[in-house]
Amino acid sequence: MTAVKILAIESSCDETSASVLVDGKVLSNIIANQAVHEQYGGVVPELASRAHQENIVPVVDAALKQAGVDMHELSAIAFTQSPGLIGSLLVGSCFAKSMALALNIPLIGVHHMQAHVLANFIEDPKPSFPFLCLTVSGGHTQIVQCNSPLNMKVIGETLDDAAGEAFDKSAKLIGLPYPGGPLIDKHAKEGNPLRFKFTEPQIPGLNFSFSGLKTGILYFLQENRAKDPEFVEKNLADICASIQHRIVTILLNKLVKASEETGIRQMSIAGGVSANSGLRKGLAEYAAKHNWQYYIPKFEYCTDNAAMIAMTAYYKYLAGEFVPLDVVPSARAVFGE
Ligand code: KG4
Ligand code: ZN
Repeated sequence: MTAVKILAIESSCDETSASVLVDGKVLSNIIANQAVHEQYGGVVPELASRAHQENIVPVVDAALKQAGVDMHELSAIAFTQSPGLIGSLLVGSCFAKSMALALNIPLIGVHHMQAHVLANFIEDPKPSFPFLCLTVSGGHTQIVQCNSPLNMKVIGETLDDAAGEAFDKSAKLIGLPYPGGPLIDKHAKEGNPLRFKFTEPQIPGLNFSFSGLKTGILYFLQENRAKDPEFVEKNLADICASIQHRIVTILLNKLVKASEETGIRQMSIAGGVSANSGLRKGLAEYAAKHNWQYYIPKFEYCTDNAAMIAMTAYYKYLAGEFVPLDVVPSARAVFGE
């Protein structure tokens, strides 16, 4: 049987990425980050589209070269079809379409959130089905029940901010630059997570809410800064540790509830926030307490990357799920209903 060789492109937000996969094995995963957004304190969509235009050809070239695959050997081209910034998605989708058309090979459209979950299948050890995945990124917070690679159900999600936003907005309130999530993580390592108490929102079912936490932190800072203008500087590590502890326990307590409701004891985490050391440590502790098995993809497969798009595309290729050349990407798309 001839080998299945897939080139995948991810351009949903501010990372331009390309990956080559051969017979289910990722051979390259090139990621170009866009530093241009830092000075604006968040991703600027217009600048992201332009940076994708600049990056896409060199990134795709590098992915093919590192994998040692000539583009004429490719079986299919995959791209992130949704969700994401529309201008960014258009760059990746147009490029993928052009290549599929020129090479006369099938085109595969991938849902970014499904791909975050399937990042768990890039390397061993891999979960078996069914398992629950807590997908936590800058744009999303979901608990996904995965019954098979292409059969997933979203059983819980955020009603307002995503977990990554909760980290970034909290960081902004305490004066840390964007993206503040990794900085909170860094300072939290030196701090006492139980020093300051932030209340856990009482949201029914498996959904999340982080907007109350943000308001709570705002009032907490206003009150304490009024008493001591240097309050944050003096207590930075404990503040970061306490905020991180609250976000992580909000996430993991819902996972406990999801496990109780579904009877599933295999857990995984995915998305940029799964890089958080408090969440990783917390998952290990909860797993020991609740008798779960757990899986965390390698860091480069947790944040936005094309390897996860390639992995998802491989399952779609085997299932014959292709899209026509007139397919249109979408900023929002329902997944796993
Ligand atoms: O998945 P991702 O790379 O991009 C999106 O699809 O959003 O996630 C980015 C998010 C940002 O909000 C960032 O602050 C957060 O992940 N993040 C972290 C850490 N590393 C990245 N949050 C907390 N701790 C970290 N170590
Ligand atoms: Zn993502």
